[in-house]
Amino acid sequence: MILAPSILSADFGRLAEQVALAERGGATVVHVDVMDGHFVPNITIGPPVVKALRKVTSLPLDCHLMIENAERYLDAFADAGASWISLHVEALPHLQRAVAHVRSRGLQAGVALNPSTPLGALDEILPELDYVLVMSVNPGFSGQGFLPGSLGKVERLAGEIRRRGLAARIEVDGGIDETNVRAVVDAGASVVVAGNAVFGQADPEAAARRLLQAGRS
Ligand code: DX5
Ligand code: ZN
Repeated sequence: MILAPSILSADFGRLAEQVALAERGGATVVHVDVMDGHFVPNITIGPPVVKALRKVTSLPLDCHLMIENAERYLDAFADAGASWISLHVEALPHLQRAVAHVRSRGLQAGVALNPSTPLGALDEILPELDYVLVMSVNPGFSGQGFLPGSLGKVERLAGEIRRRGLAARIEVDGGIDETNVRAVVDAGASVVVAGNAVFGQADPEAAARRLLQAGRS
């Protein structure tokens, strides 16, 4: 299990310090939630923050784009130092072109699915993906409750990837904490995002360590 703490729940005034704490706790990827106030109700951060993070950590930066017209911004995120980019299937009519562009920039490409989006939306694109991001909350905010139907979805996706002999990893995002992380991993996720359960805690380093322990035990 790879832990990707989401900086959405971090103290933005001390971002470098917070990321360093999570890294000390065993996090090996940094999840960056990019929101535009259109695709999702919230507005967060963009390429300048990715660029700043790139200078203060060597961990891969996992940019989750919850924005309309994401294709317009792919180069800006790549130039800023993104390592992985996930694109929402609900937001992009020309998803294949965007995925191919991300990969042509030497980055890992993922496709994200909202809770109500069926796995069938991945049928054609799955062989081209480095990972699938299964949302276990409706995107927009951290600190929401895990939608239990997500476990079955992850299991079915893992089965499909196995059956087709594909390489895509499964990342799960939203409402994950010590009580459910093990179930998420057992269902087939190899990358687990956690916002509130890491940066919402008094000691993010200890919280990251506890989550990893819970997910691996
Ligand atoms: C939700 C974001 C998530 C969120 C996770 O829109 O994509 O990455 O920050 O936060 P928690 O773990 O608190 O649900
Ligand atoms: Zn996210």
